[in-house]
Amino acid sequence: MTVRTVLKMGDPGLLQVSLPVEPIDARQLAPLLTDLRDTMAAENGAGLAAPQIGVLQRVVIFGFEDNPRYPDAPAVPETVLINPVITLLDESTEDGWEGCLSLPGLRGLVTRYRNIRYRGFDQFGNAVEREASGFHARVVQHECDHLDGVLYPQRMTDMRHFGYLDTLSENGLIKPQPCDDDA
Ligand code: NI
Repeated sequence: MTVRTVLKMGDPGLLQVSLPVEPIDARQLAPLLTDLRDTMAAENGAGLAAPQIGVLQRVVIFGFEDNPRYPDAPAVPETVLINPVITLLDESTEDGWEGCLSLPGLRGLVTRYRNIRYRGFDQFGNAVEREASGFHARVVQHECDHLDGVLYPQRMTDMRHFGYLDTLSENGLIKPQPCDDDA
């Protein structure tokens, strides 16, 4: 088990554009995926992107049965997604509170597309294609943003809805949740 250090906002590595994985070789990817899974589990993340542990490759993982950080979130299938591409199913959006393991203790209200299709590959090179809505779609958009060097505050339009989770909770602005990232 290798729990890697998650880079925090302010680290220039989080602002880089990651490179496509080519070719997709399960044996080569195995150590990275093990580290991503171990790190995400240790931090109770809903997802994690390779650049967050300093690897500038277009690899994200996400998914959970239930997540103490997001107690109201529906289950999201555990997924390895390589070289992801997101397309919109429609233009509708919704606002939701997001956290990120790279911004520990903070939450921000972010507008995301509600209904998306995402495509990519798993670590064996098999095509992954799904439609997703709501929190699932939010997690995918959040994680894929990391591959382009985008952190969720860059998606925010009203910085008044940005703060510390414990303080937001104390003030009744967000439901108390004993958790953090990713998404
Ligand atoms: Ni994140």
